[in-house]
Amino acid sequence: MSKRLRFISATAVAVSSTAMPKKSKPDWTFSLVVTYNPFTMASEIRQEVKTQSAFPIGPLGIEAALEAKANPSIQPRLKIFDQFAVTDRVALVSGGNGGLGLETAIALCEADARVVYCFDLPEKPSEVFVASQDYVRRLGNNSRLEYFSADARDQQLLWKKAEEIGDKEQRLDICVAAAGIAKPQIDCLKYPAETFKEVIDVNTNGVFFTAQAAGRQMARFGRGGSIILFASVAGSVSEPGGGMVSYGSSKSAVLQMARSMACELGNQKIRVNSLSPGIIRTPMTREIVNTVSPILDAWLRSSPLGRVGRADEVRGVVTWLASDASSFCTGSNIVVDSGYCAQ
Ligand SMILES: NC(=O)c1ccc[n+]([C@@H]2O[C@H](COP(=O)([O-])OP(=O)(O)OC[C@H]3O[C@@H](n4cnc5c(N)ncnc54)[C@H](O)[C@@H]3O)[C@@H](O)[C@H]2O)c1
Repeated sequence: MSKRLRFISATAVAVSSTAMPKKSKPDWTFSLVVTYNPFTMASEIRQEVKTQSAFPIGPLGIEAALEAKANPSIQPRLKIFDQFAVTDRVALVSGGNGGLGLETAIALCEADARVVYCFDLPEKPSEVFVASQDYVRRLGNNSRLEYFSADARDQQLLWKKAEEIGDKEQRLDICVAAAGIAKPQIDCLKYPAETFKEVIDVNTNGVFFTAQAAGRQMARFGRGGSIILFASVAGSVSEPGGGMVSYGSSKSAVLQMARSMACELGNQKIRVNSLSPGIIRTPMTREIVNTVSPILDAWLRSSPLGRVGRADEVRGVVTWLASDASSFCTGSNIVVDSGYCAQ
């Protein structure tokens, strides 16, 4: 067993989709919905359920159980963690110099990505990034974290950078568009044009150009892929106290962007989903969470868990969206907000 796979389980033998011959790769277009009839014979169920089996790691769940029943020499093994692995996949993450972008990138490395390419505005990566890069190197699964400088608003540059990654790695499977900015609260009737345009330019155009750059490579290699767009609860509900019309509008656009792209790219097995976090402690929200603000006040009062989130609390959901564990999920908006939007 390769070093790369050992992190999942000492006994698990995960088979990456690259290792599969082309014909046996999953083809989601043939997934069938199975209706369970308690009176159906087990063998018939087995036959029906077989049609679900599209995972490179073989039959799962009920199908695996029935297979094991039919063949007692089969030793059942844990497969759920394998479903979340992104073994040998290549990822692109915008805004990856810190905050939720970098948190996501580390999670993907732990989930066994071959390499995660992070980009952000500074010419050189931050100390936190360098420490994270070293941490990933020491994980021992051969995963890599790389950095390059780019502005998410530069469409041509992103296309070129993503193409270079494609040329080098011969694949690009995962994209996380996390670069974003927020401005202090300003009355919507006085909101300056330049500030409004700046927020839309990064949070909407930049997210689109990032998704587009990665999507072009996913289409080029024909393996499908998963694109995750960072939106926000502010794209669905207004910030308490107002003044965030640019941010909310920019994030609302991302919600529809994910749905539109998902519908257009589904036939190429490229999934596109958005993620809407609530308030999470990162450099972006430092001021909001460290000072007395109407936004924080309202948040603590109205979110059922009664706290702000930790950056590491996006690790699970991003890994789920990036991996085959979410293979039937596209065009969705996943809300991770302490229940804030639930009431
Ligand atoms: N932290 C939260 O509470 C929260 C909540 C909801 C949504 N979000 C969203 O999550 C994403 C990540 O936010 P975060 O909290 O980690 O913020 P952050 O400020 O820590 O990270 C954002 C990163 O984006 C980079 N960036 C900004 N403009 C860029 C550009 N033009 N090109 C490339 N990179 C650029 C920044 O340099 C920064 O490193 C953002 O889209 C944000 O809107 C955050």
